[in-house]
Amino acid sequence: MSNADWAARGEQVFIGTYSRFPAAMVKGRGCRLWDDDGREYLDFLAGIAVCSLGHCHPAVTRAVCEQAQELMHVSNLFHTKPQIRLAELLCANTFADKVFMANSGAEANEAAIKLARIHSGAGRYEIISLSGSFHGRTLATVAATGQPKFHQGFEPLPKGFVHARFGDPAEVEQLINEKTCAILCEPVQGESGVRPLDREYLQAIRAMC
Ligand SMILES: Cc1ncc(COP(=O)(O)O)c(C=O)c1O
Repeated sequence: MSNADWAARGEQVFIGTYSRFPAAMVKGRGCRLWDDDGREYLDFLAGIAVCSLGHCHPAVTRAVCEQAQELMHVSNLFHTKPQIRLAELLCANTFADKVFMANSGAEANEAAIKLARIHSGAGRYEIISLSGSFHGRTLATVAATGQPKFHQGFEPLPKGFVHARFGDPAEVEQLINEKTCAILCEPVQGESGVRPLDREYLQAIRAMC
């Protein structure tokens, strides 16, 4: 079978949530990918920036294979050793001192929104995010996303999200009121072009929190 055959088969069985390139990827090593027609690619995407060690890094592959032979899943009703070790590593090597594990970016942002709301108390629920942002495809993260094209067709969206102009700290300050509980932003916007927020902006909005 070829790329075109796989693309046609995929279109038969998937609902049309994403438009995909007409290539069926079959192998990855480091920063290279190969499709089913044998074409080789230099991968600048890395699974939208999540395969940060490259494709099929031997240490990752080994760890996945070893763990899959020991224990695959017991739900979050129990502790597991690898999960605790990973959380310890994250706490030791990042800004964070506690960890919430999620399955996707959207779920991580949903958790961030819920944590901000539950710790802010009654009446403080509003999240300020930025125009041009992308925060995921669940309903709350769609509402947080500052691009109308992602809202269309999904209304009514969850309440409590307002959007400030990109890169303008004064506008964020204006939007803050007694209902505000968090500012949500990507340090580098991706979906609307690679648009970094500068250090001064990030420091200014941090100081408002
Ligand atoms: C900045 C940003 N936030 C959230 C998401 C959502 O992540 P996921 O697709 O893993 O839910 C994405 C996905 O591209 C993203 O680019």
